[in-house]
Amino acid sequence: MQNIEQKLALQLAARQAAGNLRFLRLPEGMIDFCSNDYLGLARNQELHRQIGEAYAWEGEPLNGATGSRLISGNSQYAVELETWLASLFKADKALVFNSGYAANTAILSAVPQKGDTILYDEYIHASLKEGARLSFAGRFAFRHNNLDDLERRLKKASGSIFVVAESVYSMDGDSAPLREMLDLCEKYGAHLIWDEAHSTGLWGTNGNGLACEMGLQDRIFARIYTFGKAMGVHGACIAGSQTLINYLINFARPFIYTTALPLHSLVSIREAFHFLDKHPELPPQLHGKVTFFKQKASAYLSLGSQFISSGSPIQALVIGGNEKTKSVAAQMQQAGFDVRPILAPTVKEGEERLRICLHTFNTEQEISHLLEHLTSALQ
Ligand SMILES: Cc1ncc(COP(=O)(O)O)c(C=O)c1O
Repeated sequence: MQNIEQKLALQLAARQAAGNLRFLRLPEGMIDFCSNDYLGLARNQELHRQIGEAYAWEGEPLNGATGSRLISGNSQYAVELETWLASLFKADKALVFNSGYAANTAILSAVPQKGDTILYDEYIHASLKEGARLSFAGRFAFRHNNLDDLERRLKKASGSIFVVAESVYSMDGDSAPLREMLDLCEKYGAHLIWDEAHSTGLWGTNGNGLACEMGLQDRIFARIYTFGKAMGVHGACIAGSQTLINYLINFARPFIYTTALPLHSLVSIREAFHFLDKHPELPPQLHGKVTFFKQKASAYLSLGSQFISSGSPIQALVIGGNEKTKSVAAQMQQAGFDVRPILAPTVKEGEERLRICLHTFNTEQEISHLLEHLTSALQ
């Protein structure tokens, strides 16, 4: 019989043979075209100072939260932050979670019950799928952004129905058709769970996301916003009704059984939004870089059609095959561009891709050079 070490080693060897072994690497000083720091806030020294000053104002804060929010980890600051986030996101209430991963597993594992149905876009984030797996509800994927397939599933669904979709899909960069999806949800009495991880900070007033920008927030059952991407800090919140938030406080295990975020993280969230409020030029600057990238890719380099259509800072070029995709990424990295290959099983086999993330701090010259190198790496 194999011992456990041999069993694990065999699985790692299989990954190695398939060309998709994951490993940790340190930053190597290349030009960042892969991080989620779209607005450059994670590296912004003015924001860093602002967080330090605001934190110092809090007197002699605890270094850690000391426990779960339900035991010793709650604070006046957390409660006020949540009231403020609820008003930013135009919801009755907001509840902070330690990460988007925790928020997503929380809502999907806790809210849909036995006899209910979860219908999810096949491309939703792993954390949403994980939450659905933990739920006792039935769960079915519908084809990516395909409303006909969603409707076919809705017709067969039973119990309370939950539809799960994202404002920006993390591996494709495209968006769910929110308005049409809500029309369908309302037709079949379904509730939408809407993840705004990659749109928080980038759309809407003071970064309150796509649903608020479209004025559709009141038709959505639950919205998830994360702060570790464009906001440059850490954590997440769920925005929804008073009843939903009370329910999560009572039944969501990733909220109940974990140490709350420390004050420093809460201050960082608040200050990141203050900073964005003082710098409204940042999201338009980013959208300008996206437009430049797309124009350059299609008009000058005939690469446009190879990219998945996306108005977000995530631009994905499907190459196909782990080895080929890794080889193109390696050539880009040798040229100094930090572009990462996204391989199967993170995406479907045959859809392996380069995922290029654009940032306010990427210059037009860097973007042009990146695309020129990409054109030659693809030949
Ligand atoms: C769509 C989506 N939702 C949720 C998450 C998880 O958020 P966090 O990084 O805060 O755990 C991610 C992270 O990549 C994501 O892409």
